Amino acid sequence: MACFFRRRIAAKLGRTLQQPEEVLIPALSAVPVFKKQQNPDFKLSVGLLRMNGILPSSGDIQQQTEKLATQLKQDSVVENISAGSGVVNFRINRKLLIQKLLEPFGKEGNDKFGLNSELFNSLKRGTTLVEYSSPNIAKKFHAGHLRSTIIGNFIANLKQALGYDVIRMNYLGDWGMQFGLLGAGFSQFGSQEKLKQNPLQHLFEVYVQVNKEAEQNENMRLAARDFFRQLERRESEAVSLWQQFREITVEEYQHVYKRLGVHFDIYSGESFHQDRAQEVLQQLQTGGLLKTTEKGTGVVDVSPAGDMSNVCTVLRSDGTTLYITRDIAAAIDRKEKYYFDEMIYVTDKSQANHFQQLFQILLKMGHPWADRCLHVPFGLVQGMKTRTGDVVFLEDVLDEARARMLHNMSQSKTTKEMDNPEDTAEKVGISALIVQDFKGPLFSDYKFDWDRILQAQGDTGVFLQYSHARLCSLIRRNEELKGATFDPSLLLEQSSITIVQHLLRYDEVLYQSAQDLQPKHLVNFLLKLCHLIASAHRELPVKGSPEEVAQARIRLFAGACSVLAGGMRILGIIPVEKM
Ligand code: ARG
Repeated sequence: MACFFRRRIAAKLGRTLQQPEEVLIPALSAVPVFKKQQNPDFKLSVGLLRMNGILPSSGDIQQQTEKLATQLKQDSVVENISAGSGVVNFRINRKLLIQKLLEPFGKEGNDKFGLNSELFNSLKRGTTLVEYSSPNIAKKFHAGHLRSTIIGNFIANLKQALGYDVIRMNYLGDWGMQFGLLGAGFSQFGSQEKLKQNPLQHLFEVYVQVNKEAEQNENMRLAARDFFRQLERRESEAVSLWQQFREITVEEYQHVYKRLGVHFDIYSGESFHQDRAQEVLQQLQTGGLLKTTEKGTGVVDVSPAGDMSNVCTVLRSDGTTLYITRDIAAAIDRKEKYYFDEMIYVTDKSQANHFQQLFQILLKMGHPWADRCLHVPFGLVQGMKTRTGDVVFLEDVLDEARARMLHNMSQSKTTKEMDNPEDTAEKVGISALIVQDFKGPLFSDYKFDWDRILQAQGDTGVFLQYSHARLCSLIRRNEELKGATFDPSLLLEQSSITIVQHLLRYDEVLYQSAQDLQPKHLVNFLLKLCHLIASAHRELPVKGSPEEVAQARIRLFAGACSVLAGGMRILGIIPVEKM
């Protein structure tokens, strides 16, 4: 495995440099592969050793590199050591490399590959609370909520795979004036029957209608305010209507999230923190942090100089609390309930300032753990439309992805017979959405285009699924060879070596993604893997090869398939076995 070799090289280096292995490991990395090119397997960054004070930072770096390369002696594992530019290159004995890497993929497969690497030793594993999706009841579920859902799910999956305890939380927008409007207008525009049939859509329709009405009708506005006040006073009739709206929404969402392969441990929401928000105001007051403005609003000074040049409003002049006040209360409550070691919020970048203010206020209130709260911001998606128009509901996006994929599959000559084509189309369609979304830096905006994301060729989720299904079918057809012993010396062709070398990087790629919480490292790694697999299919046929060669090749494909499937699952993609 990658870690076996990394440790082996680190030990060798350690003896020469008189340093413990652990400090050398971070300077070692697997070399990214280029097709059709002989690569070393690992490289050591001499620049990094200088930066860390392991080598003197004065003097010519190239001379240092060459000296180190000659000092290090090759052996039966590390066959070749040479100086490159600013790096020392290491080449592992081919047979041993292949054997060690493919060994774990016997009969049972291996879903832990790469996850026990020593690279993760430095991670402070603990409890991570990830808050994501967080749509607003009766309002649109827009592309931003979809992004939050899949990004948050990825972060939670990744952390979980690396051994963290993960709490997945959905923080619903289930409080505020929209409930005043809904409550006041439901008797007029709503129907219990429609609410049961299609809750999300019906609540949204009613909300739009009441809003329109309220624009022209003063009485509707007054009624809405009145209803919201009843809610805030916890009057039972108002509360039970609100509760019904909320319950029915959560149920419906759970159903749609399931299609997406997403789940939550907790459905929290703004409504839960209404009372504590008042407490927060008290605490701010006692701590001398709450200032009253001329307009009668309550603010907290968040300017670096403390001169009120940047303030955050936490209290309206009519005594009601705001989004941020509830967020302060919610954060404190979560810390007390779940003892998280870190908390991650996933929303679009327009809320970056909101979260920075939130963390600052928490710190000012004497909560040092606010330093371990993190906002992961992402960019906007333009033009996510369905045949019927703008995206209003998550379900619309999923239906559209499924319908388009089903159509493409029916057009393709390679499509296999399958039991449930809808289900496959849905999974493949969703993976197309995810891969498109994860390919670049999360912070970037992008233009959405169904045709592009659903292409079967090129770097898409469809390509990942297709590669996986093709591997599965090859392995199915050669079931009896899977798990047989294999002879690594029969895998010395360039196309199998590049795959194995590429697999060497898997733990590093996960590590990178865990550091900056960006899925692009993993996505691009898997896409590259699929390209390498495609060449291997051409160059390393199983059918018609002598049995031992076929056995060895199946082992290679089984290893690639297992890593591909594992990586896809971390991204939140359910790999299909046939398509
Ligand atoms: N419901 C909010 C929205 O749709 C997102 C909530 C984000 N999380 C939070 N703790 N403020 O914009």
